[in-house]
Amino acid sequence: MNRKLKLFGGSSHQTLTDKVCKALNIARGKIDLTQFPDGEIHVQILEDVRGCDVFIVQSIVNQPNHYLMELLIIIDALKRASAKSITAVIPYFGYCRQDRRNVPGVPITAKLVANLLTCAGIDQLITCDLHADQMEGFFEIPVQHLHADKILCDAARPLIEKECILVAPDIGSVKIAERMAKIMQAPLAVIKKERKNSHDVSMTLIGIVKGKSVLIVDDLCSTAGTLAAAANLCKKEGAIKVIGAVTHGLFVEDAIDKIERSILERLIVTDTIPQGFASTQIDEISIAPLIAHCIKGCNL
Ligand code: R5P
Repeated sequence: MNRKLKLFGGSSHQTLTDKVCKALNIARGKIDLTQFPDGEIHVQILEDVRGCDVFIVQSIVNQPNHYLMELLIIIDALKRASAKSITAVIPYFGYCRQDRRNVPGVPITAKLVANLLTCAGIDQLITCDLHADQMEGFFEIPVQHLHADKILCDAARPLIEKECILVAPDIGSVKIAERMAKIMQAPLAVIKKERKNSHDVSMTLIGIVKGKSVLIVDDLCSTAGTLAAAANLCKKEGAIKVIGAVTHGLFVEDAIDKIERSILERLIVTDTIPQGFASTQIDEISIAPLIAHCIKGCNL
């Protein structure tokens, strides 16, 4: 690689940053990330970035406000240090679920965050499985939108028995399920999900899963309510086995418990979000090679 490429990590997901560096065969950029006693974030870039194409890995998750602000401050520091180009690599794009005004009086945080990043000075965004593809249009700069479909399918394939059917647990996940059904060369069923409140949903299956291995796919798992209910419904409808595959494992509240108590035999998740759990039911696969491949191909 001839161009001067540097990669830095915010503090949200240093394990993933290191994996991407390893895949690119470069050392992680030196940066000091601290906080003043009053809580303000302090950043110092500890190496020369003048004329370099710089990438910053930061997932906006767990403490989304802190990590978003930290990312914006890193971008500002890099800009003032004369980086040639700045690419934010945001494997999990927090705040992306508020992407439209479904009721009066609510914000569109996905657009607000897009504005903040652009205003801070990024030239490009690399991200994975946005909640809605249309969100790319919130940016006036290039967006490399990566999909984990293929790596999720590769991990799911050995777990499938007999005939496979892909299941989208709600209308929003039909697109991702369609893409994965194509890769798996399998048919697709859809669940009509109605949310009663933030925890309870009612579900109707459209399609026939009887006697089949079901692969439920979604962009993310938060409380695991959707996944667990969809898995139970598929089993009730006669599926012989139910597996899940999601890109982003938020796993809030008692999500892990819920998964372990559900009839879901296995859940495959990528490492866009750092995890602090150990569950024999959950397999983590890395998105780092995909990100590294994208960085290699970026022409800035
Ligand atoms: C919904 O639009 C998403 O694709 C997920 O299905 C949802 O956010 C999952 O949430 P939970 O795990 O809390 O049911």
